[in-house]
Amino acid sequence: MADKDTIGIASDHAGYELKAALRAELEALGHGVLDLGTESAARSVDYPDFARALAEAMKAGRIARGILVCGTGIGIGIAANRYPWVRCGVVHDETSARLTREHNDANVIAIGARLIGVETAKDCLKAFLSTAYQGGRHVQRVAKLS
Ligand code: RB5
Repeated sequence: MADKDTIGIASDHAGYELKAALRAELEALGHGVLDLGTESAARSVDYPDFARALAEAMKAGRIARGILVCGTGIGIGIAANRYPWVRCGVVHDETSARLTREHNDANVIAIGARLIGVETAKDCLKAFLSTAYQGGRHVQRVAKLS
């Protein structure tokens, strides 16, 4: 059974600083955090490796939800969605984070550190964590994703 309170987080070098800020925010909100790297902004790494680490932690039941960060959120989001059990929405504000929960039952969000500021990213995080899936008309559509 996946741990509902522990949130996975991972980034590439471009997302490292924002990942650190979001990790601190998660801890302030009382969540356990499973930080899957990267460990520095100084060393260039490949974002698919960090999407894979988060997807595998999810498959292993260590986490039920995750946050991914790269420069745009796009590359790491594409990589995460290669894994059938991941539904990753690339979000850029509170509204997109809320809607990807309500409509897509997203279990991961991807954020672009080079595109949005820290406060907006925190708003995304809080909306993602606090919004329930709406079900209803979305159930058939979400089922077709897998
Ligand atoms: C890294 O330079 C950058 O390409 C990556 O963080 C991301 O934006 C890719 O989608």
